[in-house]
Amino acid sequence: MRHYLQFKDFRAEEYAHLFERAASIKRRFKNYERYQPLADRTLAMIFEKASTRTRVSFEAGMYQMGGSVVHLTTGDSQMGRAEPIEDSARVISRMVDIVMIRTFEHTKIERFAANSRVPVINGLTNEFHPCQILADLFTFIEVRGMNQRGIVDAGCLKGRVVAWVGDGNNMANTWLQAAEILGFTVHVSTPSGYEIDPVVAGIKNSDCYKVFKNPRDACRDADLVTTDVWTSMGFEAENETRRSAFADWRVDSAMMALAKPDALFMHCLPAHRGEEVTAEVIDGPQSVVWDEAENRMHVQKALMEYLLLGRIG
Ligand code: CP
Ligand code: NVA
Repeated sequence: MRHYLQFKDFRAEEYAHLFERAASIKRRFKNYERYQPLADRTLAMIFEKASTRTRVSFEAGMYQMGGSVVHLTTGDSQMGRAEPIEDSARVISRMVDIVMIRTFEHTKIERFAANSRVPVINGLTNEFHPCQILADLFTFIEVRGMNQRGIVDAGCLKGRVVAWVGDGNNMANTWLQAAEILGFTVHVSTPSGYEIDPVVAGIKNSDCYKVFKNPRDACRDADLVTTDVWTSMGFEAENETRRSAFADWRVDSAMMALAKPDALFMHCLPAHRGEEVTAEVIDGPQSVVWDEAENRMHVQKALMEYLLLGRIG
């Protein structure tokens, strides 16, 4: 049994397989072809933080694959009334086949996984958001590494430059892990006080990223420019301080102009136009944010298939 708690839980060749499966599963979905390998399987989704994309993509994806879902939040379960996470894991994992959790400290999902009889997927923790990066990379491959016949070339990621402009948060940490495994470089620019911590990110190879004081320098010659909210869930009390600290880290057209002419723009969403990104960029021709959001569902269907049924095809 495998869990998917951090991006580094899988190897490069497993990602190559997942990207191929995601492309095939997406093609079937677009052709209205039924594909229900998870009939009679149940996914429990546990949300300790708000969500739109993660909930809809996992829930719709599981139903499309023939399974069903149970949706729990802190407020409407005993987890909000101090039942130990270990006990919740023991109970929930006796009744379902797979679990997705969105929570605060990463240690919490690790404690759940350690007591679970079934695979556990990280739907976002304070430190990591692996399903999102899975979708982001698949989106990049769709645009830059897939031919007309739908042949997926995950190798197209090798040697690429991804510019990360903004907070040294869960998304940034996960980008670093992906760079280390898949062979690209992240140009990171954060305001001081919000830097990435390679120990928290859990990376060993410092060659997979470069730090830039000036966000414009990070964007120079990038293949992809990406950012995220200035204040992540759980950090709302810092909102005002962050708003002033991050003022120069807004992705705008001038920054995009420094990247490669065909550079893509991504944002995991939800976005705040006029804060971390201008409307011109997020609604502009280089932005692939809607494909990125939709691809959450396709990659997660491939991920659930892999965790429950192993290698198909
Ligand atoms: N990107 C993402 O995880 O979105 P939600 O918070 O809406 O799930
Ligand atoms: N970094 C953001 C991502 C939201 C999908 C957060 O943790 O709130």
